[in-house]
Amino acid sequence: SGGSSESRGALVVLEGLDRSGKTSQSSRLLSYLEGLGHSAELWRFLDRSTDVGQMISSYLSNKSQLDDHTIHLLFSANHWEKRSLMETKLKIGTTLIVNHYFYSGVAFSSAKGLGVEWCKALEVGLLAPDLVLYLDIQPEKATERGGYGDERYEQLEFQKKVSQCYQIVDACQPIEDIEKQLFVRRNVCIKNHIKPRSNLTIV
Ligand code: TYD
Repeated sequence: SGGSSESRGALVVLEGLDRSGKTSQSSRLLSYLEGLGHSAELWRFLDRSTDVGQMISSYLSNKSQLDDHTIHLLFSANHWEKRSLMETKLKIGTTLIVNHYFYSGVAFSSAKGLGVEWCKALEVGLLAPDLVLYLDIQPEKATERGGYGDERYEQLEFQKKVSQCYQIVDACQPIEDIEKQLFVRRNVCIKNHIKPRSNLTIV
């Protein structure tokens, strides 16, 4: 709220599995925008620069053990601790290109079996993106690209589960099933105050 929509920066989110190419595409997008003379910054979640980020980082590299709910709370806290800076930057006209956001928060945690509604509840109130670009890749293809480190989540079986948890609607289903899924998504958007102009583009 506040600030005219013409002068504020845009919140652009890149989502997708590990090795889906978010880093390459986001830096290309940054160069493109800078070339046009826009002020833009590249952000990422997880943001490892904070204390919370360090706790998550140590969990991901198996240096600490945490309950699934607890790690979700930390990821969520990592989004929340950046919220006011995010708002400030957008208001002064800086466009933010963000790798991973609360969609990953929900997809990765619900892939472990946590309730989707519980996961989402903690993200309500975060700034809604103007655009979400989902880089779609089959988990098997992503592993072939190599570069999986030894972090906890970088495993094919887990990534397969995560890919099912991103809420991409399969348009090949019966029409009533699609309608039911869209209905649920629409209500979630309303609850989260996601503006109609934020749309999900599948690339
Ligand atoms: P990532 O950005 O991939 O870190 P890096 O690329 O620097 O190694 O984030 C680490 C992992 O955390 C990645 O597998 C996605 C996952 N993740 C969550 O589980 N929840 C979240 O809310 C976010 C932002 C990421």
